[in-house]
Amino acid sequence: MRNLNQDNITQAVIASFAKTPDARLKEIMTSLVQHLHAFARDVKLTEEEWFQGIDFLTRCGHITDDKRQEFILLSDVLGLSMLTVAMNNDKPAGCTEATVFGPFHVEGAPHYELGDDIANGAKGTPCTVRGTVKGIDGQPIPGAVMDVWQSDDDGLYDVQHADLGHAQARGIVTADAEGKYHFRSIVAVPYAIPHDGPVGQMLEATGRHPWRPAHLHFMVKAPGYETLITHVFRDHSDYLDSDAVFGVRQSLVCDWVQQTDGSYLMEYDFVLNPTRTR
Ligand code: BEZ
Ligand code: FE
Repeated sequence: MRNLNQDNITQAVIASFAKTPDARLKEIMTSLVQHLHAFARDVKLTEEEWFQGIDFLTRCGHITDDKRQEFILLSDVLGLSMLTVAMNNDKPAGCTEATVFGPFHVEGAPHYELGDDIANGAKGTPCTVRGTVKGIDGQPIPGAVMDVWQSDDDGLYDVQHADLGHAQARGIVTADAEGKYHFRSIVAVPYAIPHDGPVGQMLEATGRHPWRPAHLHFMVKAPGYETLITHVFRDHSDYLDSDAVFGVRQSLVCDWVQQTDGSYLMEYDFVLNPTRTR
């Protein structure tokens, strides 16, 4: 393997993976090299640009810690997260669609009784959230467990408030024997994804904005059904047509209706897909 040149180096690198014991790893590495090299050829990558790319990834690494994950953010704004979600969540018609998980879910959120206020002091306009969890056959799913999280009126999740120290606008509720759930929270507002790092600089340099339309996150679990990770978006919110992370599905948009007392009501039914048997 000497005197490799721009015409034969790709094949040489691919051949170097020939003895990879794991067939899937071999497939992934081979395809990755093919596409990376094709990309470099396509744009006629200069050495200076290659170094800028390395510097960008280095800065993504430096800003990443247990609270900030710049690489996931990068995947999100490049549409890779949503593409992966879409490819792996092809459900039968009628099931609630999945969308991006995002970086703000927290394990071990507090459990609430039906009807409780999960805002727990978070700033925002009161909103009641209710609906039913069912299967594709329309039968309710009793005891479905729903992990819910959202940002406050300032567009910040509790974990983004430096010294808060307790959960706000997040919690776990369990649907009743008829699959019905209801809880109180606050109205979601559009917010900007973290953009004070390299991903934000990339958005700025490419004339893109960092905003997401107003949404409430749900992770719904029930025995015998696939876990559903999704959002419910607020109709007429800004950025529904230009979500920075490409997560909007029309079937997930619903009207959050203002009530006579000024509070809001958001009603949404979730339809889960039975666990697939392969
Ligand atoms: C979110 O909705 O919480 C989110 C998703 C992707 C990137 C940043 C935030
Ligand atoms: Fe979010």
